[in-house]
Amino acid sequence: MRVVSDANLPIGVFDSGMGGLTVLAALQRQLPTEDFIYLGDTARLPYGTKSAETVVRYARQAAGALVQRGIKALVVACNTASATALDALAQEFAPLSVFGVVEPGAAAACAVADASGVTVLATESTIAGGAYQRALLRGQPTLRVLGRPCPLWVTLAEQGSVASTLSDAILLVGVSGITRSPVSATSPSTLLLGCTHFPVFRDALQRLLGDGVRVIDSAQTAASTVAAALTEHGLASAHGGKTVFLATDGVARFQRVGAVFMGGSLDSLANVELVDI
Ligand code: DGL
Repeated sequence: MRVVSDANLPIGVFDSGMGGLTVLAALQRQLPTEDFIYLGDTARLPYGTKSAETVVRYARQAAGALVQRGIKALVVACNTASATALDALAQEFAPLSVFGVVEPGAAAACAVADASGVTVLATESTIAGGAYQRALLRGQPTLRVLGRPCPLWVTLAEQGSVASTLSDAILLVGVSGITRSPVSATSPSTLLLGCTHFPVFRDALQRLLGDGVRVIDSAQTAASTVAAALTEHGLASAHGGKTVFLATDGVARFQRVGAVFMGGSLDSLANVELVDI
């Protein structure tokens, strides 16, 4: 396995599918002169309903495929893999810097949370493992934390279905009773999207829940963490700006639906390489 530290190498980013493109978009905005390789493990999505052992195995294979191509840092842009496999990846690929999205998401929520607390919405695996709950309580030991798995939201997002009567109904089921709304006035007013697929629903959620709710995700904070670490380790590049996309299945679908996650830009997804990991 090749582990190198060269500022001219790209930053590797992976997710189970297209959700991590929301993190990639934040990284590209904050680090416009870096190169990236993004791997979507679309053949094996969803990760969030699989056992911890399977998620660790998939994450090691996805990370290994990126490391073999030569990367200077790895961003695990999947909350499920971050919550389950981050330590295993950091150990296997040391001394490569490996960044997750759970700690940055928890930090972003703690920074804005009020006494009503934080609601975490994520995959079954992320909620059951308790990584967000622990990270939030490390930030604020007395914080009120509620959580709920929303596996259907992943399916909706991968369909690119972000604004319809059906998606509104499914979003409302996910938040009902555990997030501040006109009918749930004492529930937490901070909603933490603990799955990288969920930021595509940000506008719909804000519309459905109103201005009394702050919708938070990990993307910006995770990107800032990576940017600071690259500078600190002398690994920042001033000459890049390209992104290579890899997918383990469904290239045409990846290009079509991926645009929703990248904020509507199809051009950047013109070339997606099919890979077997
Ligand atoms: N994007 C993944 C996450 O952030 C979840 C999607 C899946 O279940 O594979 O947790």
